[in-house]
Amino acid sequence: MGEPLPANEPLTDELRGRHFITLQDWSREEIDLLLRVSGDLKRKFAAGRETEYLRHRTIFLMFFGQSTRTRNSMEAGITQLGGHAHFLDTSTMQIAHGEVAKDTGIILSRYGHAIACRNCVWEVGNRYLNELAQWSSAPIISMQCDRYHPLQALADLMTMQEKLGSLKGRKVSVIWAYATSHKKPVSVPLSQILLFPRYGIDVTLAHPESHPLPQWAIDLAQDNARAGGGSLTITHDQEAAYRDAHVVIPKNWGDWVLSPESTSTEALEAGRHWKCTVERMALTAKDALYMHALPADRGNEVQDAVIDGPQSVIYDEAENRLHTAKAVMALTMRASEPGQ
Ligand code: CP
Repeated sequence: MGEPLPANEPLTDELRGRHFITLQDWSREEIDLLLRVSGDLKRKFAAGRETEYLRHRTIFLMFFGQSTRTRNSMEAGITQLGGHAHFLDTSTMQIAHGEVAKDTGIILSRYGHAIACRNCVWEVGNRYLNELAQWSSAPIISMQCDRYHPLQALADLMTMQEKLGSLKGRKVSVIWAYATSHKKPVSVPLSQILLFPRYGIDVTLAHPESHPLPQWAIDLAQDNARAGGGSLTITHDQEAAYRDAHVVIPKNWGDWVLSPESTSTEALEAGRHWKCTVERMALTAKDALYMHALPADRGNEVQDAVIDGPQSVIYDEAENRLHTAKAVMALTMRASEPGQ
């Protein structure tokens, strides 16, 4: 991690008003700043210090789907920053009667200081967030869309830096895993393969042939790897992904990536053996980390002995969702004048 901010140093204004929809729009220097502020807020939270950088400021949290970590890290986070969140279940908003993103974005941004939104509907969610951003006078913060989950990727990066220090040359494997609990979006693995190579990480993406990530994302990840000094390797051999890895992130994603209508139970069932097991963890580098964005499908994606075992850092990873969410809000939602 970079140097912590000095105690009580005013936060920089350079990111005030910025939309946070994908980390692709944020420079490496800006992401480093987010990570430093996250670390500073984490230390202050642990020390019981006040961090009311957003006193009396309001964020609207619009959810088109369920959430445990994202909702609660955002709600707890804004409270700890001195502000307030409105939880909005979009099924009970006029969105359910067809109100368009333009009207919602303009109006909510006149009532408060940021709009955060989760909309994971394939080929809809990211468009919806960008439409909000086009019309909102306040920053739009993605709480996950069909393409990206930047808050998750940021917390994952913070966790790896805390545990491993320098990430350059580390092998981090993003591995498809079998699950039956629900059809999981591609936005988590997609954000991870885009972000991690920017930090010099050698990313291995492993999946059955039936579950690719979109080619545009692979192309962008390769560009990021060239610019950041990392790499992206794709394999259909899960053992190769575990072998000598410093971090493994086995997680399900849907096979409707390219055509949601063609979701195939047969393809899913053919991947039953894609599971994080004790035997596969034995292939990894010494003290390798097991990570998962959660919720996990225990028994399918991963054995309990792994997710509850000594290599698992899932709770630290989930905790970092709070500190990173606070950093994003603190930097983007700042008032233009102190005390406003
Ligand atoms: N990882 C994550 O986004 O969790 P929730 O779906 O519970 O918010």
